[in-house]
Amino acid sequence: MDKFLIRGGKQLRGKVVISGAKNSALPCLAATLLTPETVTLHNVPYVKDLITQRRLLEDLGATVLTPELQTHKVTAKNIETFEAPYELVKTMRASVLALGPLLARFGKAKVSLPGGCAIGTRPIDLHLKAFEQLGAVVSLESGDVVARAPKGRLIGSDVNFEKVTVTGTENVMMAAVLAKGKTTIHNAACEPEIEDLAELLNKMGARLKGAGTPTIEIEGVEGLYSAEHTIIPDRIETGTFIVAAAITGGELEITHCQPNHLRAVIEKLRETGVEIEEISQSSLLVKCCAKGLNGKDVTTEPHPHFPTDMQAQYMALMTQATGQSIVTETIFENRFMHVSELFRMGANIQVSGNTAVVHGKTPLSGAPVQASDLRASASLVLAALSAEGETLIDRVYHIDRGYENIVKKLSSVGADIQRITDNLAMTAEENI
Ligand code: EPU
Repeated sequence: MDKFLIRGGKQLRGKVVISGAKNSALPCLAATLLTPETVTLHNVPYVKDLITQRRLLEDLGATVLTPELQTHKVTAKNIETFEAPYELVKTMRASVLALGPLLARFGKAKVSLPGGCAIGTRPIDLHLKAFEQLGAVVSLESGDVVARAPKGRLIGSDVNFEKVTVTGTENVMMAAVLAKGKTTIHNAACEPEIEDLAELLNKMGARLKGAGTPTIEIEGVEGLYSAEHTIIPDRIETGTFIVAAAITGGELEITHCQPNHLRAVIEKLRETGVEIEEISQSSLLVKCCAKGLNGKDVTTEPHPHFPTDMQAQYMALMTQATGQSIVTETIFENRFMHVSELFRMGANIQVSGNTAVVHGKTPLSGAPVQASDLRASASLVLAALSAEGETLIDRVYHIDRGYENIVKKLSSVGADIQRITDNLAMTAEENI
């Protein structure tokens, strides 16, 4: 398994270009299954999860052309199977996003039920209940979710999510666009990725409004068509680079981003003392920190509040802030796996249930550590960049799932980071 060797203590300086959002590209690629015509997606990040999603589309019978590395032209004309097998789902939970479009267009879908993963149990009961509300018959057969629309087509209905779910909302949006009649999704997720998917679906001919608010209304249509769409910038990658500038006391210009998509992160980091200037609608200048960093509490919540996907990176930064900060994780029950690794590097963090109390500022020193999931890996990279000495991060296949060219991007702004490649086959058994 590949490792990163990082020699810390270098201030990062220069310009970083943000890639397309993984969590938007994943549902947008799934949405290409809704039409036999060609859908072209630009700004798709070249990361492992997107390679897996492409493989899923190809296994189903779609043709995927990539005239450029970040452009995917998908034609799902000759879909031959309606199944996402365990081998794929176990490596990437987002494969469940195939359920909605397959069910909508073909009236049938079979997707292996994802198990728990490193950050929590992560059931998909809310997706399945919503499909039933749209008239699907859903059963569990030998570990697979089998869903059918009895008359071949789903029926528009009211869907009320008990809990906000991002991929659940996306799955129902994709299921409802071809359903007969009107669907209203209540308590929908409001993440920018939902709005991006809605924009693509509307370009394909769907009639969907309200995305980005808790109520989404969808008027089902008879068919969807070819479209071209550019994926939004990755807000979590943006936040991660803001923290990279801050934790190294450097200065980064972050371009091709969308500051409006990460207001809560920007505001919270400003409260701690990070200087973030919006130099245009798509670029930020981050400096840190003339007056030092101060510990501030944070609680993760669905958008527009502070995202769980920035919690681990924020915690790494708080180890370098003066005073105490209380980090409360409300989305996933097991998302503090980075704590024990940060502890090995010298952090002083106490965990109790879903709360971690960081006592700063503690000097960090390089150590061998192990990544446990995508965002935990990012927090270890950040800690290593500010630590004295060498950090060897194992299991970096986690970071390869969602950060495009991270080694190249960090090196280009002065980080001393190197990938140590192990020639043995990768055994990524975790599914996030
Ligand atoms: N939940 C249920 N039942 C369901 C669905 C969700 O109980 O049927 C619970 C989950 O267990 C969790 C909460 O609801 O406690 C929210 O989960 P959600 O469904 O919103 O998460 P997700 O859709 O599986 C997406 C992102 C995650 C991100 C979360 C929260 C994608 C592909 N994944 O996951 O991204 O953390 O939303 O914002 O969009 C990452 O990129 O590192 C990552 C994990």
